[in-house]
Parts: sequence; C-alpha cells; structure tokens
Amino acid sequence: MNQPIPIDQDNTLRKPDIAEKHQKPIRLWAPALVIICVWSLLILISWIWLTQVIRSGTLETARIEARTVFRNDVTYRRWNAIHGGVYAPVTPETPPNKYLKIKNREIKTPDGILLTKINPAYMTRQVHELAGQTYGHKGHITSLNPLRPQNAPDAWETGALKRFEKGETEVSSLEIIDKINHLRFMRPLITEKSCLNCHAEQGYKLGEIRGGISVSIPMAAHTAVEKANVMILGLIYAFLWTIGVSGTLLGIFFLNRQIQKRQQAEAMVMQHEKMEGVMEMAGAVCHELNQPLQMILGNSEIMLLDLEPDNPLSKRIINIQNQVKRMSRMTRNLIQVTRYETKQFPQGKVIDIDKAAKTDKAAKIDKASKTGKAANDKMPQ
Ligand code: HEC
Repeated sequence: MNQPIPIDQDNTLRKPDIAEKHQKPIRLWAPALVIICVWSLLILISWIWLTQVIRSGTLETARIEARTVFRNDVTYRRWNAIHGGVYAPVTPETPPNKYLKIKNREIKTPDGILLTKINPAYMTRQVHELAGQTYGHKGHITSLNPLRPQNAPDAWETGALKRFEKGETEVSSLEIIDKINHLRFMRPLITEKSCLNCHAEQGYKLGEIRGGISVSIPMAAHTAVEKANVMILGLIYAFLWTIGVSGTLLGIFFLNRQIQKRQQAEAMVMQHEKMEGVMEMAGAVCHELNQPLQMILGNSEIMLLDLEPDNPLSKRIINIQNQVKRMSRMTRNLIQVTRYETKQFPQGKVIDIDKAAKTDKAAKIDKASKTGKAANDKMPQ
C-alpha cells in the first residue's frame, strides 16, 4: 500500500531547472580588475610624484649647501672689505696682486717682513683653492667686466650674470664637470659702500651688481641619499600595492562566495515553491479522480451481485475492480508525495519519492487534513 510511485528510474522526480536557467551566476571579477587597475594607477602616479619630490629635495639640499658656501664667502669678503683689504706676508703662494693699484700695497714690518695687501677677491680665490682641496666643492669669483682677465666668466656663468642683471637673485642647475654630476649655483655680489674704495673708478655705484660667485657642489653624496630614499619608497609602495591587490582579490573572493550561496538559496526557494504548486495540483487531481473511481467500484459491485457466481463475466468484473483499486492506491501515494522530501545531487535537487512516501502517520494525517482530506475519507480499502 505504501509503495512510492516510480516516477524516475532511480525512483526520483527530477526538479525543473528553471531557477538555474534564469539566474546567471553573478561574479565580481570585472569590478575587481577595475579596482586593481585604479589602485595600480594610483600607486604608480603617487610613486612617480613622490620620487619627483625626493629628486627636487635632493637638489634643494645641494642648493642649501651651496648657499651656505656662498654666504660664508660673502661674510669673510665683507670683513676684508670693511678693513679696506688686509695685509699678509708675501710668499711664493701669495705674491703681490698686480691688479691692486693702491698706495702702500706692500709694507715692511719693523723686523723686515714684507707684507702685501690682500683685497677681498684675492682672498676669495685663495679660500676657494683651499676649500677645493679639502671639501671638493669649487668656487669662482667672476664678473662680466673683470679687472683680472683670469676672473672672466665661463659660458654658464655669463648666462647667470646676464640673468642677474634682469633681476634674478639666484641661478642653479645640474651640470657635468669633469664627467661628474655637479650642482652649479651662483649668486650676485652687490656693490657695497666698502667696495667703492677700490671699484668706484670702474664706474660702479652702490647697489649695482659687481659680479658674482659661482659654487659647484659634487652631487655624489646627495644622490646616494636620494637613491636610498627612492629604494625605501619603492619597497613601501610595493608593499602597499601587494596589500591592496591581495586585499581586493580576497574581498571579492569572499563576496563572490557570499553571492553564490545567496543565489543557491534563492534557487532552492524558487524550486521549492514550484514543486509545491505541482504537488498541490497532483493532490487536487487525485482528489477529483476519486469520485469516478468510486462510481466504477460501486457499479461493478452491483453488477457482481446481479450475476451468477459461475458466470464467466464475474472474473472480468473482478479484474476491473482490481485495476480500479490499483489506480486508487496510486492516487493515494501521489497525495502522500505532496508532502515531499528533497535530496541534493550533483546535478541539483530532486524529489525523494522514497522518503516522501514513507512518511509517519502523523505527517500523513496532517497533510491529508490540508490537501487530501476528502480523498482519504472516501478512499476504498
Ligand atoms: C682693496 C680693494 C678692493 C676692495 C675693497 C674690493 N675689491 Fe673687488 N677687486 C679688487 C681687485 C684689485 C680685483 C681684481 C683682481 C683680483 O681678482 O684680485 C677685484 C676683483 C673683484 C671681483 C672679480 C672680478 C674682477 O673684476 O676681476 C669682484 C666680483 C669684486 N672685486 C667685487 C667686490 C665687491 C662686491 C667688493 C665689496 C664687498 C669688493 N670687490 C671690494 C679690489 C678690491
């Protein structure tokens, strides 16, 4: 009596695949790619920008060094000029300055030591020479209108001096000197009151540009610092990029999983609802079938009573009755199936007729009271 209706060969009813056909699986790999591209671009742009900042920082520190050198030059020159030049002993390294045409250029001390006057430019030349030997940076005092021909400017200095005359106060650029990268730096020397003692006869007036001092700073030490900074920055950015990319991939991976789970759950609900509809329809059909079956049974019973027991037709009628009872059993089983169970297969979910039909009594009564009450009441035994 409680045998399930064999619907499929493995005793299962395959579910309709409507849900799968209509719901395309949503995966967020394209947005992930966009996020990663944008992130990479941001990292690249800010890396380029920050390396530029570091580069200009390197130039600025070299410039600061050059400014310090220049200021020191200006300070001791001013000290010298205030004294109208200072005396130093004449030596092979410090011969009298033939361009300094003043009274008492050479004097003798009471004990006979010959002294010569050192003007600021002469002092500057000697200091630059010393500094070049000791610290590597080079200095040059120059002018577009030099008293001493050797003080004439080179091409770069000429350009700078011309720019000073147009109002600029500082010129600097990266140049290669003796195959080594240098920062060339120059500032003007302005005619002060103390300068006029010696330079007034050239026609210079107070505040005019008398010339300039150029300073060349070797970049090696600065570029070493720059390289270290750029490398650290590169490492930080590589780390940030990796964090961003792996974070995005991980996030999208988990989001995709979440979406997948949700879609599966939605598909299950949809399928469940569809199956419920189908089963309710089956229940209703079974219920409706019951009455004609009853009629057939009742009439065949009356026919049997009317016939003589040995009438060959009695056997036929009993056959009909048996088939009708079989149909009745089938409808009852179908009603039981309306309380259906499902199980998961690789292909999807299917109705488990076995489980669905072999239900406990309580469940059967409960279901019957909902869908097949009348059918159960009138069911022939
Ligand atoms: C004691 C005299 C004396 C004083 C003061 C003096 N100079 Fe000179 N200066 C000279 C002589 C001489 C030269 C040229 C020879 C040389 O290079 O020593 C010269 C050269 C220069 C040069 C190099 C270009 C050239 O003409 O050969 C500059 C620039 C310069 N002086 C600027 C100044 C300024 C600015 C002051 C004031 C702060 C100043 N000088 C004060 C005597 C003086």
